[in-house]
Amino acid sequence: MFAPLTNVSKNKIMQASFWHNSWELGGFHTSFHRKDIHPYVLQYMAPREIEEKNILVPLCGKTVDLLYLAQYANKVIGVELVEEAIHQFFSENNLPVSQPDDTTYVSGNITIYRRDFMELTSEEIGPIDWILDRASLVALPYDMRMKYLETINRLSGIGTQQLVITLEYFPLLESAPFSITPAEITQYYGFGNAIRHVESPGLPNHGMVRRWNLDFLIEHGFLLTKYADSPVQTGDTGMALETAGGMGENAALV
Ligand SMILES: C[S@@+](CC[C@H](N)C(=O)[O-])C[C@H]1O[C@@H](n2cnc3c(N)ncnc32)[C@H](O)[C@@H]1O
Repeated sequence: MFAPLTNVSKNKIMQASFWHNSWELGGFHTSFHRKDIHPYVLQYMAPREIEEKNILVPLCGKTVDLLYLAQYANKVIGVELVEEAIHQFFSENNLPVSQPDDTTYVSGNITIYRRDFMELTSEEIGPIDWILDRASLVALPYDMRMKYLETINRLSGIGTQQLVITLEYFPLLESAPFSITPAEITQYYGFGNAIRHVESPGLPNHGMVRRWNLDFLIEHGFLLTKYADSPVQTGDTGMALETAGGMGENAALV
């Protein structure tokens, strides 16, 4: 007799096969990948901010942000479900790689764990000073997102800083990338984190706007500093933000 699948386990299986297929197909399906270092990373994770720090990059794909961070950081830890993405990262960047075990890939001060991020432990990765979330939170449907937030809380410590880059758009799509508003970021992180909303440009020329005929699309940047452990918050915290100004084929356009 099998135990009935919960929504979280069903989503987990769908998610995993979705991402494996995306990396297998490549092209449009992995067009969330940027060839350049994300401008918010250059702006908010400047060398002096990240020097000698330990940086965690959940759901890292093959982002070249890892290369930039590794130039200055003590250690850069990526976590990625799909082996193909990890292979492409090391081969496209001509990096020699060793594998101390089947799911760990090491090159210099970059380590990538081939793992479900939600299963990573502090014992494995040690203390973390910075977390970079670009297109991670928005890649996850709601119940998986709650697991992700629990994991972030579990793996970070008091003082851990985080750059969170999300998309907000309308009308809503039923699959990734999911729209996340600043109010939702406050709900998710407002207890236990000081939040600065540092970027919110509209991107009228973004491919998603054309493809899905969106009314608007904004790429938000948030800087978080953790001051207390907190359970995942899904209700309205009523806290003010300091402002600066599923899977389907659309995931490719993150
Ligand atoms: C939208 S992409 C973003 C990749 C990267 N952050 C970037 O900016 O290019 C999401 C990535 O997360 C990976 N992924 C999805 N679910 C995951 C999980 N539970 N654990 C680890 N990686 C996961 C996918 O394979 C994919 O490479």
